Amino acid sequence: MDKLVIEGGIPLQGEITISGAKNAALPILCASLLAETPLKLSAVAKLKDVGTTITLLEHMGVQTSRSEDRVVLDASHIHTQEAPYEMVKTMRASILVLGPLLARFGHARVSLPGGCAIGSRPVDLHIKGLQAMGAEIHIEHGYIEAHAIKLKGARYFMDMVTVTGTENLMMAACLADGTTVLENAAKEPEVVDLAECLIKMGARIEGAGTDIITIHGVERLHGCDHQVVCDRIEAGTYMVAAAMTGGCVKLNNARAELLDAVIEKLRDAGVTVESDATSITVKSNGKLKAVNIRTAPHPAFPTDMQAQMMALNTIADGVAKVTETIFENRFMHVQEMQRLGAQIEVEGNTAIVRGVPKLEGATVMATDLRASASLVLAALVASGETIIERIYHLDRGYENLEEKLTALGAKVKRTS
Ligand code: UD1
Repeated sequence: MDKLVIEGGIPLQGEITISGAKNAALPILCASLLAETPLKLSAVAKLKDVGTTITLLEHMGVQTSRSEDRVVLDASHIHTQEAPYEMVKTMRASILVLGPLLARFGHARVSLPGGCAIGSRPVDLHIKGLQAMGAEIHIEHGYIEAHAIKLKGARYFMDMVTVTGTENLMMAACLADGTTVLENAAKEPEVVDLAECLIKMGARIEGAGTDIITIHGVERLHGCDHQVVCDRIEAGTYMVAAAMTGGCVKLNNARAELLDAVIEKLRDAGVTVESDATSITVKSNGKLKAVNIRTAPHPAFPTDMQAQMMALNTIADGVAKVTETIFENRFMHVQEMQRLGAQIEVEGNTAIVRGVPKLEGATVMATDLRASASLVLAALVASGETIIERIYHLDRGYENLEEKLTALGAKVKRTS
């Protein structure tokens, strides 16, 4: 298994380009199932989760071709509407095939996603929403069996804000009979990007980016050209890296308006953040103030940046309260950060972080994607060498991580 070896203490300097967003690419790849002609995507990052999604779609009969950051998907002929356990278990987002399959083919058989390291993460709202649209759904032998000769438009209130739930139902509603109104919908930029792609495919969607999305069903959808939105979480992670190391980093293909909550917190911590329409520059003298964080659905502070901001707080001046409200078990980075000398106490869904002057290199283990990213950040400022084991999690969400960090002057190498 690969490990990352990081020599800490170097202020990051220079510029890098942010990749297309993983969390936008995954639903948009699945949206190809709705189209009768090829969907042509660009800015599709080379990530493990993207590869897993493409393999799943190919298993169903989607013809795909890939070169550089471009992917073409042709779902004109599908030979199975089944997403098997072996594929779904490695990636929860596989549930995103459920809505499109059911809407276009009237049937889907999708394995229930298994347990997940960051909490139980049920899919009940996806299922209830499809049932509200007239689908018959049974859970049998660990599979969601869904049937509907033709989905019908419906008004559906989601009693929790769910990103993939909103995406699944929005995709299904595109081919339903009549109008669907999704209330308390997720407002994440990746939902908006999916909606923009669906609209180019011929869908009639209003309100994406607000908490009420209205979808007027159409008979059929076609392919289109679409460039995936930039990855705000990847950008946010490098912004924290620049802040923690006392560096100056320019991120190209990054949009500040997607990162308001993160930028606000970095400024509170004493970091300078400047931006134009397509880039963000972060400057820091390395002297950071502790900042309280409370995660919540967009536009509030994203749970996918919680671990990284906790890393910043471990070396900031003062005491920070980090509260996680989205996932119940998302503090697995804490005990690994403690191995690097961080002072953190966890009480329920809140972590109290007391900043220390210095972290010290040690061997740590990556446990999930963003936890792994936070350990990389801690390692970049720890004295001596830090070895991060099980870095396959990072390959799920960060394209060319070592190359990008090396381009900024960090001493990072991957070993087997
Ligand atoms: C997506 C993102 C993930 C991010 C998360 C929250 C993708 C591929 N993944 O995950 O990176 O951390 O949003 O921003 O886009 N819930 C239910 N029932 C449901 C669905 C969700 O109770 O049917 C709960 C979950 O357990 C969780 C909360 O709702 O507590 C939010 O989860 P959700 O937004 O669905 O997360 P994902 O879409 O899986």
